[in-house]
Parts: sequence; structure tokens; C-alpha cells
Amino acid sequence: MGKRPDFESNLSRLQKKLKTGVGPDDESMDYEPRVVCELSGKALVKNFEAIRDQAKDKGVIPMIKANGYGHGLTWAAQTLSECRDVAGFGVATLEEGLKLRTELSNQMRRHRIIVFSGATDFTEEKGRFCLAHGLTPVLSSEESWNLFDRAGFSSKLPYELEFNTGMNRLGIPDALAPKIAKRAKEIATRAEGNKFLSGVFSHFATAEDPNHRVTRDQLERFRAVRSVFSDLGAVQFHMANSAAIWNQKQIDSLSITDLIRPGISLYGVPPFPGAPEKGIQPVMRLKARIIQITRLKPGESVGYGATYTVSGSEAQEAPVFMATLSAGYADGLHRSLSGPGKKCENGGYVWISGKASRFAGIISMDLSSVFCGPEAKVGDWVEWLGSHIDPWSQAKLAGSVPYELLTSVTDRVKRIYVD
Ligand SMILES: Cc1ncc(COP(=O)(O)O)c(C=O)c1O
Repeated sequence: MGKRPDFESNLSRLQKKLKTGVGPDDESMDYEPRVVCELSGKALVKNFEAIRDQAKDKGVIPMIKANGYGHGLTWAAQTLSECRDVAGFGVATLEEGLKLRTELSNQMRRHRIIVFSGATDFTEEKGRFCLAHGLTPVLSSEESWNLFDRAGFSSKLPYELEFNTGMNRLGIPDALAPKIAKRAKEIATRAEGNKFLSGVFSHFATAEDPNHRVTRDQLERFRAVRSVFSDLGAVQFHMANSAAIWNQKQIDSLSITDLIRPGISLYGVPPFPGAPEKGIQPVMRLKARIIQITRLKPGESVGYGATYTVSGSEAQEAPVFMATLSAGYADGLHRSLSGPGKKCENGGYVWISGKASRFAGIISMDLSSVFCGPEAKVGDWVEWLGSHIDPWSQAKLAGSVPYELLTSVTDRVKRIYVD
């Protein structure tokens, strides 16, 4: 990967600094944390390389918005900044961009930081902020583009244009592409070349389904957008998120683009249920300690609302043990993973004593209960996100998607950067 020699030592210094956790700081904390979020830098880099290899000669914009999908914004950028073919980093907000510029001034010097939604709706204040901190705004509406251009930013601040090809969330209507391309060419002629429009892109709504009518339609509409900008030198085109990269053979968006924008797959989650792993592995592992074990008798229940009660037949089959975990919804453990009972029949998965088990009863703010065997001990760690748990199955039980499980981990969870 060609890391500079001082990179390893800088990285490890920064990783030490980044070990966060509320309450006592690292030096004075000589007891086991309640909940741990383990993060693997090696896995993040390997995933990046596996994704880049799938897309062959494309540059990569790692999407590290939303605090690096919950893994740590600065850590994710730092870990990936020396990888070959990084073509900038994707953040959501202006604040995330500023944080990167401030905390990683050396590593980020040569990287663009593209602000995907935070500069919409555009104002002159936002333009000045981007200029001052070296951020590349995305202009996603006709109004934003007009204001950007009228205020003179189009000839002094690098920017990207997002076109709406069917997601109908953000983006300049694709029908306006010829008009905007014409104006961009006028600016380029005056400046003796296109110096500031760095990219033109769109975003897939249904890339997990290559045959979806919307996927096919978006691709054709983007092809048309691309054609009117193609003679503006230095513009790079991009469209593919993780699902489109995985389905590239059927979608073929890569043949009309220069860059890819992977998010969820970088963090080791296959981009849709049942998607092959293609060499990626989980970067995050969430685990909590068993702090108490209780044996329940028939007729006894667990947790608020007594939603799970041991039946006579269950207790006859085998003794029923409950492990109390030091993790609850205030740590980001979704309450919707609560276990069997009147209202929540399908408890979320845990990995305990080397096998799979389930949450039992209602997950509360700081605590939760899981079924365990007689071999479980106080102090054992129990995982609910990581290599033993399928993220899509877990997310389905939570009525959600892995994206939300990853980004829900709260500040009081101790982050440990394992490698
Ligand atoms: C504009 C844009 N590009 C790329 C991505 C990455 O998508 P994924 O995490 O599905 O790879 C996102 C994420 O939502 C996005 O908003």
C-alpha cells in the first residue's frame, strides 16, 4: 500500500488519542468498560482494496459521512488516506468537513473533501466557509447553482454538480443539464479551461436490483447528462454506490463513470441481503459484558412489562438461565431487538459462549437480558454486531438496516481501535 514510514507512528498516536469513552479518561480507567465498540483498521484497508479491485481502474471516493458510518470520521479518513486511488472523501455536512481539515491537516492536504448534502441549499455564507476550509460543495438544485454562479464562486471554488435521474430526493433536474453545461463551458472559456467543476454525478435509488425499472432509467438518464458535459476537461463522473459496484456486471454504470463511491461495503457489510462478501469483513464489533446471571423458575419473567415468562415445559427441558448484559438502548442497542414475549416474538441475535442465542424480554436503557447456558460466566463478553452475526438478519429483526445499526452507537460506548 506504500505507506510513508512516519505514517504508522502518526496513525498509532492518533488512534490512541481517539480512544474515546465518557467518564474517566483512558489513563485513570483501570476497570473493564461496560460496552466496547472494537474497530479494525486492517479490515477497513482490506475492504477498500477489495472494493477497488472489483472496480479495476476507477478512483474511489470513500463515503465517510455520518461519523464514518459510526466508526469515527477522523479515524476512517486517517486509516484510508494513504491508500492508492483515493480520489477524495465524502462527508455529509460542512461540520464534518471542517473537523477533517482541522484534525488531519497533514494527511488531508492532498485530498478533496466533498460535502454531499451540507451545502444544499446553498448560501454565500456556505460558499465562504468552503473557500476558507478547502471544502468542495455539491450543488444539488437549480437555485443553489444559480446563486453559486451569480455570487462568483463558479470561478474560484472547486465544486460538484448532482443531477436528479430518478431518486427524487436531491439533484438538479436532468433536463437542465444542457443549459448548465452551456454555462459551465462559458465560464471555462473565459478562464482558459475548466478549473473548478470537478465532478458531475447522480445517485442510484435501487442499485440492489439491476433489473428494476428505476435502475435502468437512471442509468440512461445519467448517460445523457454525461454526454453534455463530456467535452469539459477535468470533469469526473460518478454514480456507483456499494450495491451498484456489486451489481456492476448487470448495471454497467462503471463504463460511463470515472469514480466509485462505496459506503457500507467499506465497513464490511455486503450492500444488500444475500450479497456475496467478495473479500470484505466487518470493521466493527459491538460487545457488552455479562454482569449478572439469574436462573429462572417456571412462572418467573424477565425485564420491564414481564413480557417473557418461563413456561413449565421450557424449564423441564433444561434450566433457564438469563445473562444480564451491561448494554441498553442508550448505548445504541436497538430496543426493537427485544426478545420473545407478547409483543416481540423474534429477539435479536447475540453470540455468547461460542454460540448463537437471543435477547429475552425488553431491552432497557442501560441493560438487556439474553438466554445463556450454564457455561456462561459473569465477565464474559457477548457480541451483537460483528463477524458472528449476519448484519442484515439482525437489522431485519430490528425493523431496520445495517446502516442504522452502525450509526446508532452512542458516545458513552468505549471505542477501541484494535489494529
Ligand atoms: C451520495 C451518496 N453516494 C454514495 C453513498 C454510499 O452508499 P452505500 O453506503 O450504499 O455504498 C451514499 C450513501 O448513502 C450517498 O448518499
